[in-house]
Amino acid sequence: MSERTLILIKPDGVERRIVGEVISRIERKGLEIVAMDLRTLDRETAGQHYAEHEGKPFYPDLVDFITSGPLVAIVAEGENAVAAWRQLAGATDPVKAAPGSIRADFATVMNRNIVHGSDSPENGIREAKIFFPDL
Ligand code: TYD
Ligand code: MG
Repeated sequence: MSERTLILIKPDGVERRIVGEVISRIERKGLEIVAMDLRTLDRETAGQHYAEHEGKPFYPDLVDFITSGPLVAIVAEGENAVAAWRQLAGATDPVKAAPGSIRADFATVMNRNIVHGSDSPENGIREAKIFFPDL
């Protein structure tokens, strides 16, 4: 069954000039990029995207960070796209992420972990709609 996942190359990934590296990994995995855009999020959109985390201690910093500069939003499609991308991204905490994953290779701390990936096929569809309503 084909799935969609929302991938974000967060502002730290753009600032560190690893957009090409991340896109290359998406392509090498065999996922199909069906939408892609460089944009800076407003706080309202960031709040929709991270609604499940509202009220948690890290939430204010998370919204500050994700709105702090341009990010690259991508919708990728393919069989097992959600799990496949989360495997490439690695665990939320970069020092616990599998060696060779993006977060393990490029980050040291959770609040600057380079990429986002939807955590379920349902959230993939929900998050893709927030960023690309016409897709
Ligand atoms: P979460 O959805 O738990 O992780 P993931 O991005 O792997 O799905 O959290 C969303 C983001 O919030 C996470 O990528 C980094 C940040 N975060 C923190 O800064 N501190 C924390 O303790 C957690 C759990 C997340
Ligand atoms: Mg998550």
